[in-house]
Amino acid sequence: MKKTLLYEGKAKKIYETDQPHVVLVEYKNSLTAFNALKKGEFEGKGQINRDVTSLIFRELTKSGIPTHWIQDVGLTEMLVHQVSIIPIEVVVRNILAGSTAKKFGINEGKVLHKPLVEFYYKNDNLQDPFMSDDQALMMGIVIEKDIAEMKDLALKINEQLKMIFEKIGIRLVDFKIEFGKKLNGQIVLADEITPDCCRLWDVKTNEKLDKDRFRRDLGYVKESYEEVLQRLKGSVQ
Ligand code: TMP
Ligand code: ASP
Repeated sequence: MKKTLLYEGKAKKIYETDQPHVVLVEYKNSLTAFNALKKGEFEGKGQINRDVTSLIFRELTKSGIPTHWIQDVGLTEMLVHQVSIIPIEVVVRNILAGSTAKKFGINEGKVLHKPLVEFYYKNDNLQDPFMSDDQALMMGIVIEKDIAEMKDLALKINEQLKMIFEKIGIRLVDFKIEFGKKLNGQIVLADEITPDCCRLWDVKTNEKLDKDRFRRDLGYVKESYEEVLQRLKGSVQ
């Protein structure tokens, strides 16, 4: 089934399969932050992130959000539709934290009246710089219609994700998603949704349950990722 390695990223490997236009994603145990300046790993991370992504993608599909997910394989892998990834990291924020809080000198935790959608150019060599809509058009990455569709999908995904996490006592502070274009041109949610790319705060204690525990050396990284998965498993099928 698994054939040639097509691409290795910081947290995942992508393999060719024997099915046309279907690739296999393997979730690794590695953990990086600050554009891989900080590196770590923990046993079981690949499995947790595969499971979290799979649970969330299947839940989003039920609400009409198209994703690249096809089926899980083994413990750390999934088959997905082959897409060409649009090199834009789409960040949605409900509560200000991280880079945008710092940029404007605002304390983390400010609740936004309306979700904020931001684009970053997906390019490790340039450290994923902020990108305006016009800059994305200038780079020829997308056309106007794609931008509107990506923003619309990002906001719909945010509404669903907020509900999914609210049910399990977690506040969805922000998250990063990536979209891909299928061979037929359809834009679908791709990549992953995991504690690596979301900020998740416990509603009762405000404890962080995401990669900030690793970025900021807060400890209990593995336990927090496990906690998110266990709560999700108890809530969504
Ligand atoms: P930021 O506050 O550092 O801009 O991050 C916003 C959200 O996006 C946060 O949940 C972490 C996530 N993110 C990634 O998944 N990958 C990245 O490369 C960056 C910079 C952020
Ligand atoms: N995802 C990026 C990295 O792995 C940045 C981050 O999450 O802080 O380096």
